[in-house]
Amino acid sequence: MFDLALINGKAFLDGKVSEANIYVSEGKIAKIAKTDERAEKAIDCKGLLVLPGAIDSHVHFREPGKEYKEDWRSGSESAAAGGVTCVFDMPNTKPETVTQKALDEKIKLAEAKSLVDFGLHFGATNTNYDEMRAVRRAKSVKFYMASTTGDLLINDDAAILKHFRILRERGMLAFAHAEDEKMVKEATARIEGSGRADLKAYAEARPPEAAVRGMETALALAASAGNRLHVTHVSTAGEVELLKKAKKSGMLVTADTTPTYLFISQSHLTRGGNYLKANPPPRSEEHRRAVFKAFCEGVIDIAATDHAPHTKAEKELPFWDVPSGVPGVETIVPLLLNEVNKGSLTLARLAEAVCGKPAQLFGLNKGSIAVGKDADFAVVDLKKEWVIRDELMHTKCGWTPFDGVKVQGNVEKAILRGKEIGAEKVAGKCVY
Ligand code: DOR
Ligand code: ZN
Repeated sequence: MFDLALINGKAFLDGKVSEANIYVSEGKIAKIAKTDERAEKAIDCKGLLVLPGAIDSHVHFREPGKEYKEDWRSGSESAAAGGVTCVFDMPNTKPETVTQKALDEKIKLAEAKSLVDFGLHFGATNTNYDEMRAVRRAKSVKFYMASTTGDLLINDDAAILKHFRILRERGMLAFAHAEDEKMVKEATARIEGSGRADLKAYAEARPPEAAVRGMETALALAASAGNRLHVTHVSTAGEVELLKKAKKSGMLVTADTTPTYLFISQSHLTRGGNYLKANPPPRSEEHRRAVFKAFCEGVIDIAATDHAPHTKAEKELPFWDVPSGVPGVETIVPLLLNEVNKGSLTLARLAEAVCGKPAQLFGLNKGSIAVGKDADFAVVDLKKEWVIRDELMHTKCGWTPFDGVKVQGNVEKAILRGKEIGAEKVAGKCVY
């Protein structure tokens, strides 16, 4: 007898949609068949589509240190409501995740509260080489090459190179926030000094050229060290071109972008500028189109969210005091399903971008529906139309950049290792 059966539905199997029942034993997919088998619990998926649970490689769940914005419970509830069953959390918490002690403590906090599985990105500083050589239970390291929310910054190329060499030796992944600190600092001082205070000004304060220069630096250093490099939140056409060239040359480089750069531009704002202030900022429509195309074609491998909640009170501060970042973990799958319905994205590419590729990047036994894989699923209604609203969100910050946006495609249930999140007792685990 199986523990769980997902019956009467369709499933995304081997790159296409098929009718099949899925059976789960001890948290793993045990059988995929058209036959009826006995199971302890059955979920009727009639009219629904079973996808692998989505994996978000870039979230800020804010615990420890900023629990008033988000914590592991609220963040993971938001993830599960959006079909995301595994997240990778960033190190700009308080204390920063730059020592083994801080990493171990964060794992403990998360295991006590998270409803989804998780991994933690370790953080690189201009000095923590010894920690980097010895770190356990993390396989990826975040490099904040430009100042952003929090104090984590590594702006010394020699330090980055030294870390990259350690990562190469250890088979770990460098995860780069690639903007050029000098260019950002110079432009920010100039634009802020001019008295302008809106999102358009902010886009000039962190210009596309700074992202391109940042990526150039990251690529050159990784080419020299020979380590694996992942560039997060690609936002410009220039970065897309660099990425294409680097991939063609055989470099071990991957990249992601987020719903901000796929769906929001200076000429199409979904809400007021304070709320959309983010690092990097939303770009011009031309950049957005280039990023969207590169994503659909797979040049940009992955869609992640950079879920970066800040409270409404913080977002209502005078513009230059507003912290950068937008929430997103709950809306990425519906927004991408909506694109599938519009015909601009294939379901296969969606599954690759939020399931298969992130699983591969982090070496997880997740990301596809196949016997032996973790039984993580997002059960979706591809046809359901609904309107994204602040008040529907589970994130503690209580708002979404996509408030008022109508989408077709809804997440009905999320299942983690065979347990239905929200209906059964579920405990997220560290994947390493
Ligand atoms: O907009 C951003 N928000 N960009 C980052 O790099 C950090 C993030 C945050 O932690 O709020
Ligand atoms: Zn981030």
